[in-house]
Amino acid sequence: MCYVLPAEVVEIDKIKNIGIVDYFGEKRKVLLDLDDVRVGDYIYAQGGVMVRKLDKTEALEILEVWKDLFLELKRKDQELSKISEKELPANILEVLQKVNLKKTLTKQDVKALFGIKNPKEMEVMLEVANHVRQRTHGNSCCVHGIIEFSNYCTQNCYYCGIRKNYDLNRYRMSVDEIVAAAKSAVDKYNFKALCLQSGEDFWHDDDKLEEIVRRVRELEVLVFVSIGSRSVETYQRLYNAGARAALLRFETSNEKLFAKLRPGTKLQDRINLIKSIKDMGYILSTGFIVGLPEQTEDDIINSIFLTTELKADMYSFGPLIPTIGTPLADAEKVAAETMLKVIAATRFVNPDANILVTTALETLSDQAKREALAAGANSLMIDVTPVEFQEMYKIYDNKASLHNKTDKVVQDTIALLASLGRAPTDLGI
Ligand code: 5AD
Ligand code: SF4
Repeated sequence: MCYVLPAEVVEIDKIKNIGIVDYFGEKRKVLLDLDDVRVGDYIYAQGGVMVRKLDKTEALEILEVWKDLFLELKRKDQELSKISEKELPANILEVLQKVNLKKTLTKQDVKALFGIKNPKEMEVMLEVANHVRQRTHGNSCCVHGIIEFSNYCTQNCYYCGIRKNYDLNRYRMSVDEIVAAAKSAVDKYNFKALCLQSGEDFWHDDDKLEEIVRRVRELEVLVFVSIGSRSVETYQRLYNAGARAALLRFETSNEKLFAKLRPGTKLQDRINLIKSIKDMGYILSTGFIVGLPEQTEDDIINSIFLTTELKADMYSFGPLIPTIGTPLADAEKVAAETMLKVIAATRFVNPDANILVTTALETLSDQAKREALAAGANSLMIDVTPVEFQEMYKIYDNKASLHNKTDKVVQDTIALLASLGRAPTDLGI
């Protein structure tokens, strides 16, 4: 099994270190910051970054196996992302026409979309979002693995089930355990990108983190770090050790809400760190939580635009899952429709966006993942944390994949992608 197809390098911009690669006629941009690559070489890329070269004969053999399936998937995706003609109110039609003409949307435009109540209008909006996704990304879908390597945390975020003050069985995976979990994900399932996530836990100090990144990078995968508010120096060391992507949400664009829900921390500090990470050259994944108490619709819209201003390469947002034992245990649940609106609006605000279906979103319903992918999302994460630890990484209740073995989640994901006509080509930058 293979999560990403080999791509042929068809053009190279030596100054910018960017290559144009081809997947059965579909072109993507890829950062070539590693080996000495030439036009005509075959490479694996993930998240817009080259992971490794591969032998031409091997590449052609893999592509031969995939060719018919790929074209069939592409046809299916095109069919499913067609827009049906339906009556729409003038203000909504005007916004969707702007989207169609590739014009920049204003916050007011997004507000109009958020005002949609009629199910038929909602259906058209989601169809258009899916169409825009198809137009910009073709039928690509990235599937990253995530290893949650420690549930210790020094912070007390009001929403989070592994906050410091919560009485919980805690674990820290050793460096060897993390590398073994990564190796198993690569060997068994062929993952080409792995996200390493933990609470803000300084027991894994810079030396340990550096060793983890270096050794996981040696497995020839894109290393994604998700370790919270660590210093700029830590992020720089990890970049130097081979990490190329970082996931760090600003959580909410509302300064007051941020200060209240992440006691002792400031939104501006978080934003400064996110900007530094981007400037270092990391592929940036950032975003926010939807459905926080006191969060207004304007806050959500501001958060979408802030993610864009921060030049996110990947948007990561999910619903608040009210979690027992946290100060937000009794908060209202977010409606699945709200999440679909946020995904569709994001796709319109930034047609190029890579939009992640987060695991929190998956908990909303059995169909949430499928619906999100059909509303403009184009990226997934599969939890590959060893099962004995998975249960203890309870950021929120009812994690969707908890009772399923990784094997099953992987098989279900492949089946889901096939049914939607999505292929595991890289998403490009
Ligand atoms: N519901 C949804 N998302 C949550 N996170 C933490 N707790 C919750 C919750 N109860 C998110 C935060 C954090 C990410 C790792 O998990 O946005 O950045
Ligand atoms: Fe810690 Fe992150 Fe949870 Fe906050 S959201 S308590 S920083 S793990």
